[in-house]
Amino acid sequence: MKTPGRNDPCWCGSGKKYKKCHIGQAIPAEIAAGLEEAVVAGTRPVGRDAQGIRKGKVSPAPAVPAEIPRPSYAATGEPTERRATSCVKTTDDQIRRMRAAGRIARQVLEHTLAAVRPGITTTELDELAHAKCISLGAYPSPLNYHGFPRSICTSVNEVICHGIPDDRVLQDGDIVNCDVTVYFDGMHGDCSETVFVGKPDPQSKKLVDTTYACMMAGIGAVKVGARLNEIGKAITAIAHKAGFSVVRDFAGHGIGSQFHMDPQIVHYRDPRNRTRVVPGMTFTVEPMINVGSHRCVMWPDNWTALTVDGKRSAQFEHTILVTESGIELLTGGEGPPFYQRQLARGW
Ligand code: MF3
Ligand code: CO
Ligand code: CO
Repeated sequence: MKTPGRNDPCWCGSGKKYKKCHIGQAIPAEIAAGLEEAVVAGTRPVGRDAQGIRKGKVSPAPAVPAEIPRPSYAATGEPTERRATSCVKTTDDQIRRMRAAGRIARQVLEHTLAAVRPGITTTELDELAHAKCISLGAYPSPLNYHGFPRSICTSVNEVICHGIPDDRVLQDGDIVNCDVTVYFDGMHGDCSETVFVGKPDPQSKKLVDTTYACMMAGIGAVKVGARLNEIGKAITAIAHKAGFSVVRDFAGHGIGSQFHMDPQIVHYRDPRNRTRVVPGMTFTVEPMINVGSHRCVMWPDNWTALTVDGKRSAQFEHTILVTESGIELLTGGEGPPFYQRQLARGW
């Protein structure tokens, strides 16, 4: 394990700079070994019972028919546009197209979540999402985005985000986040939900419930004239009250003709982020909440981010439009989130 730099976050998860925290003290062997193991072997990090997530086999993605309009990176992996500086939509046509992309992302997500059950692989979930996306005339945005190999992200248990669908079979008691982004009529729409695979244990239930409440509270803090740092403040209050931590290494983002654009929407308290909310902004709120440490390690695939301690992580995401009178959920569904429907149905 590389020792953190003086100004890096401390390895212990306190959120303080290393120089203000554990500098000068030995890094516990299990933390150092866990990080090393995760990076070298592509296995789960510390925490470490034998049941942790292991990397499965990733197969090549199915093709996208030629008639589906593609984003600039579809062939090369790298977006060619200059990174846009504003996510503010100023015309009715832009807003109409954002609504369409958001609606399709929601449809693809619902279709995918409905298939989650013990025994299915995340590759199969990806295939279902991919086919649904194409049937609706949209391109699955993750596909080849900076080289991402599949059409959605599937993040199981201690995977925080950007899990690559593979041949691992979902087990009774797992939790899985499916993150769907689509590109339609020149715009991206991005949403995700975490759901239960079979019957959840009480802590996973509390984690998923808290994470959904965090996202909704973050969205609730968005209004014209508010500062963007209100979002992280609202999220952190709820997460900490439940005894959970807020991931700092990944953020929400402006969205539109580009998948990721300014501003960054951090989910933790950041008093420096004083940008004001203005009408027409379209961005995501997508908190990742952890049972234990907020710290991440990355598998050698350079995508899969996991909790450093092997404890579970959940996430929800909506794309929203700021209006004069409030916000519109561009990726809103008809009913409650899928996990609440699972709980109501019972096992
Ligand atoms: N959908 C993710 C987000 O919410 C981004 C995935 S990037 C990918 O921002 F390349 F992994 F797909
Ligand atoms: Co997403
Ligand atoms: Co996003």
